Amino acid sequence: MDKLLITGGQRLSGELRISGAKNAALPILAATLLSEKPVSIGNVPHLHDITTTLELLGRMGVQFVVDEKMNIEVDSGTIANCEAPYELVRTMRASILVLGPLLARFGEARVSLPGGCAIGTRPVDIHLDGLSKMGADIRVEGGFIHARAKRLKGCRLVLEQVTVTGTENLLMAATLASGTTYIENAAKEPEVTDLAHFLNKLGARIKGIGTDILEIEGVEKLDTENLHYQIMPDRIETGTYLIAAAITGGRVKLKNARTDTLDAVLDKLSEAGADITTGTDWITLDMHGRKPKAVSVRTAPYPAFPTDMQAQFTALNAIAEGVGIITETVFENRYMHVQEMQRMGANIRLESNTAICTGVARLTGAPVMATDLRASASLVLAALAAEGQTLVDRIYHIDRGYDHIEEKLSQLGATIRRIPR
Ligand code: EPU
Repeated sequence: MDKLLITGGQRLSGELRISGAKNAALPILAATLLSEKPVSIGNVPHLHDITTTLELLGRMGVQFVVDEKMNIEVDSGTIANCEAPYELVRTMRASILVLGPLLARFGEARVSLPGGCAIGTRPVDIHLDGLSKMGADIRVEGGFIHARAKRLKGCRLVLEQVTVTGTENLLMAATLASGTTYIENAAKEPEVTDLAHFLNKLGARIKGIGTDILEIEGVEKLDTENLHYQIMPDRIETGTYLIAAAITGGRVKLKNARTDTLDAVLDKLSEAGADITTGTDWITLDMHGRKPKAVSVRTAPYPAFPTDMQAQFTALNAIAEGVGIITETVFENRYMHVQEMQRMGANIRLESNTAICTGVARLTGAPVMATDLRASASLVLAALAAEGQTLVDRIYHIDRGYDHIEEKLSQLGATIRRIPR
């Protein structure tokens, strides 16, 4: 397994281009299963999760061509089978996103049930409940979800809890259903909005985009010719590099960023003492060599503070002035990074879903273990601020969601090196 060796203490400074959003690219690639015509997707990030999604689509018989700029031409005209096997779903929970499109277009899907994961149990009951309300016959047997429906029927769905991939699965399924579907208490995350815009370009009829009530008038086919769609920039990658600058007292300009999707994160960074300037597609952050002030954050669905930025703010608080209280309300077990940061000298106390962080004068480098994607990013951030060398193990987690992280951080002046297994 590859490792990252980081020597901390460099004040980061420079410019970077933000990549396409992982969590928009995954549902949009799954949504190409709905289309009878080839589609072209641009600004796709170069990530392990994208490779897994393409492998999954390829196993079903989807044809695709990837060019050197990560433009992907996908042709789902013919599909040989409607199955998502265990060995792929096991490595990427987002594989569940093929369930809605397969069922809607082919009347059948067989998708391995995702298991638990490092950040919590993460059930898919809301996805399944919604599809059965739309008329699907759903059985769970031998670890697989078997779903069948001649044609899904539009209906009113009130989601019991805000779920991002749950909303996306039901939204995709509803585009080809007969009649109108209403999804209430829908997730409003920008990635859900990006998917909805893509579906409308494909010929779907979705209203209420960006709100918590989506109205979808089902159509017979999605067959727009010559569609090219650009994936939105990654707001979590943007937030992570902003913290890389903030935690080292540095300065960064991020280009191809979507400032309008980052309000809660930018507010907290300003509160931490960062000088932030934004344009339509760029952000600069300058700490002027200062140490950040500790901030308190509470995670919740968009537009509130994102759970995917919680670990990175924990790292920031670890070296900040004062005490910051982090409250995680979305996932039940998303503090795996805390123990590793404690090994670097952080003073963080966990009390159920709260992390009380008292900033220390300095962290010291240590061998640490990545446990999930955002936890790994937070350890890299802590390492950038620490004295001495940190070896981050199991960085396959980071390769799932950060496009060329060591190259981008080196570009900002970090001393970081990948050590191949
Ligand atoms: N939940 C249920 N039942 C369901 C679905 C969800 O109880 O049927 C619960 C979950 O267990 C969790 C909460 O609802 O406690 C919210 O989970 P959600 O379904 O919104 O999460 P997700 O769709 O599985 C996506 C992102 C995650 C991100 C969350 C929250 C993708 C591919 N994944 O996951 O991204 O943390 O939304 O914003 O979009 C990451 O990129 O590192 C990542 C984990």
